[in-house]
Amino acid sequence: MTEPLQPASNKPPAPRPSSVTAEILGDPSMKRRRPDPTAIVIFGATGDLAGRKLAPALYNIMVDHAIVEPTLIIGVSRGELSDAQFADKLKPRVAEFSRQKVDPAAWDKFAASLSYVAGEFDNDATYVALKAKLDAAAAQGTRGNRVFYLSTPPAVFPMIMQKLQHHNLIERCVQCDEKPSCRVIVEKPFGRDLKSARELNEMIASYLDESQIYRIDHYLGKETVQNILVLRFGNSIFEPLWNRNHIDYVEITAAETIGIEGRGAFYESTGVVRDIIQNHLLQVMSLVTMEVPASFSADDIRDEKSQLLRSVRNYDLNDVANHAVRGQYRGYRQEDGVARDSQTPTFAAMRFMIDSWRWQGVPFYLRAGKKLAERVTEVNIHFRAVPLVLFKEEAAGSVLQPAVLTLRIQPHEGISLRFVAKVPGENINVGNVLMTMTYADAFKRPISEAYERLLLDCMRGDATLFNRRDSVDRAWELIQPVLQIWEATPGVHPYAPGSAGPVEADALVAQDGRVWRELAPAPGSPAP
Ligand code: BG6
Repeated sequence: MTEPLQPASNKPPAPRPSSVTAEILGDPSMKRRRPDPTAIVIFGATGDLAGRKLAPALYNIMVDHAIVEPTLIIGVSRGELSDAQFADKLKPRVAEFSRQKVDPAAWDKFAASLSYVAGEFDNDATYVALKAKLDAAAAQGTRGNRVFYLSTPPAVFPMIMQKLQHHNLIERCVQCDEKPSCRVIVEKPFGRDLKSARELNEMIASYLDESQIYRIDHYLGKETVQNILVLRFGNSIFEPLWNRNHIDYVEITAAETIGIEGRGAFYESTGVVRDIIQNHLLQVMSLVTMEVPASFSADDIRDEKSQLLRSVRNYDLNDVANHAVRGQYRGYRQEDGVARDSQTPTFAAMRFMIDSWRWQGVPFYLRAGKKLAERVTEVNIHFRAVPLVLFKEEAAGSVLQPAVLTLRIQPHEGISLRFVAKVPGENINVGNVLMTMTYADAFKRPISEAYERLLLDCMRGDATLFNRRDSVDRAWELIQPVLQIWEATPGVHPYAPGSAGPVEADALVAQDGRVWRELAPAPGSPAP
């Protein structure tokens, strides 16, 4: 696949099928230990996340026999519903969002594992009813193992934790191996700024040991994100080049075509920096840039990520405008629940520098936004240009493009490498070629959803893919100046839905002589 040489363009090539043959090392049928039977309590069980992600993930886990029965799911929410009505409410959401088709017999089995407690989170009666359900679950075989999933606005976390403890439903882990497991999953954003995140960490730590706290960031459960470490540390060809001597700059993009999907009130108090950059993108950046861990254990990996985040340069308050650009799509202010003069950014682009031996001088550009031209999450590693261009005459009028390694997180998950090769013929003409591996072609097996992996890991007690207190704290510290300046001074740049964001984001990289990967709608997609 040879692309003719183009003037300096950064347009990504259309995804093409890969020609990669995968040789699977080890026994592919070997599965990890199945978790012990557990009761999973979901606070906020009638909310969007429970319907869109949690219930479909739990359904798929059950269909794939990844859990030991009985695993029971107890929803807690305000609405008055019976167990059967709760199951009926979830069914269409699972049908819509499950990666596997919903089969009537499998659904009946799943529905039998669901039950529901109606009540306010500040009402003791809710916890009395929950305790009765948990006791019944223990008698059915969960033996007291519990996971509490806080899928509610962060403001009610302290109330829920306090009530859970008051009703003896949580207990700090002391001799953990001898007791039924008791874990809490906390949804992101973990706090809304550095101060509230620290308070939240303090509050949860007053009830539970760090080993019982699972701060979820679903990006870490994505196969392609986990593959970043395998690619880097499982191949000897990349790591020697993975530094400032060979890498010119790195772009990390999370572009969405959807808007805020009716979540106006949530988004107004969150914005793109808290929603995507503080967590998902800084986590991806730390996996791309961290040093090699001593082992793949939870703490060794989390130590290295944390260490890396500590070397990211802090923004000076006076310098935020030089490193960060904010945008808002036109029409956002007309969405339900959004202020007519809202300054909430739906797009942000930022430059981060890492003060370490490996990365000194290499800019990391992070960009995320809603209602953009293309749905793509991708890491582009741009290698340095060759020191001497020997092909000037032959490639006259065109630009020899440096190699780019693309880690495609989603969709069309895979890896591609763009490099220069000779075009067959008598002359030394050069062209850019693209080598692509897609997971779908290489492994011919479905990729499971991030929430499936993360829920299973939590039930197993494996915290590797969850965020530790120190790295959450550091990520807030890094973006705090941006939040502070942006919240104090209006100045969000409008952009057209279906575009690549505000032009000011292009200027951010152009002033360093770099370009973003172009965002382009998929061929045949409807006009925005
Ligand atoms: C969530 C954000 O964490 O991630 C959403 O709250 C966003 O606003 C979503 O749409 C994107 O997730 P994914 O897996 O579709 O990239």
